[in-house]
Amino acid sequence: MFHPQGPTFCELAHQALSSTERGYDLLAPKFDYTPFRTPDSLLEFVAPRIGMPKSIDAGLDLCCGTGAGMKMLQPLCRERVVGVDFSQGMLRVARNTLADVAAEPKLEFIHGDVLELPFRNEFDIAVCFGALGHILPRDESRFTQQIKQALRPGGRFVFITASRPSRLSLVYWLARGFNAAMYVRNTFVKPPFIMYYLTFLLPAAAKLLEEHGFRAIVHENVFPKPFHQACVVVATREA
Ligand SMILES: C[S@@+](CC[C@H](N)C(=O)[O-])C[C@H]1O[C@@H](n2cnc3c(N)ncnc32)[C@H](O)[C@@H]1O
Repeated sequence: MFHPQGPTFCELAHQALSSTERGYDLLAPKFDYTPFRTPDSLLEFVAPRIGMPKSIDAGLDLCCGTGAGMKMLQPLCRERVVGVDFSQGMLRVARNTLADVAAEPKLEFIHGDVLELPFRNEFDIAVCFGALGHILPRDESRFTQQIKQALRPGGRFVFITASRPSRLSLVYWLARGFNAAMYVRNTFVKPPFIMYYLTFLLPAAAKLLEEHGFRAIVHENVFPKPFHQACVVVATREA
């Protein structure tokens, strides 16, 4: 549908009718041929906002999928890069895809839910790309608290988001239409597939982070078209 090696429409529909975990297990072998994988060319604009090569001890990629964020973090980190995802299929592809990157620092792949992270004061950086739509609004506070606990004091949570698009724009109504379809699907088909657009947007996301003891800085005009509306948020866990 998106690429000759990508999923067909029927495969995508099958995936969307599965649970979120199972849907990503099914999609995993073809995920890198979809627009859902955060492009390396986009993350090249994020890396300089995080730091110089080997300037960070430990980095965490939340909802790592096939490893886009881990690949970006690896050259920046000295000791550890950890990816967490609840799809074993996505983790398997990440392991294979990243098998050839430099041996140091070592990469760790953890099967788990980002709403139940097993880490305490362990990371200098946590990133989350292309996955904030999988966190329901009612779980955003818990998600933020999990990230805070995983970071050391002074550690930073870095993610890409945007402001709410204008109600007069096509993108706004396409997103609302998708969300309505997903709401109907999740009302009638169990288990749910959790994926909604227009979540964790500015300024609400920055306010939530500040309520949890982060200081959030929003970097605008970071990306070229067609991603120029997106911003990088760097939220520092205050000591
Ligand atoms: C669209 S992919 C993004 C992958 C990658 N971060 C990227 O940007 O290319 C979303 C990923 O989030 C994972 N995911 C969704 N909800 C999750 C949760 N609560 N805990 C762990 N992983 C989750 C899915 O399994 C999937 O691999």
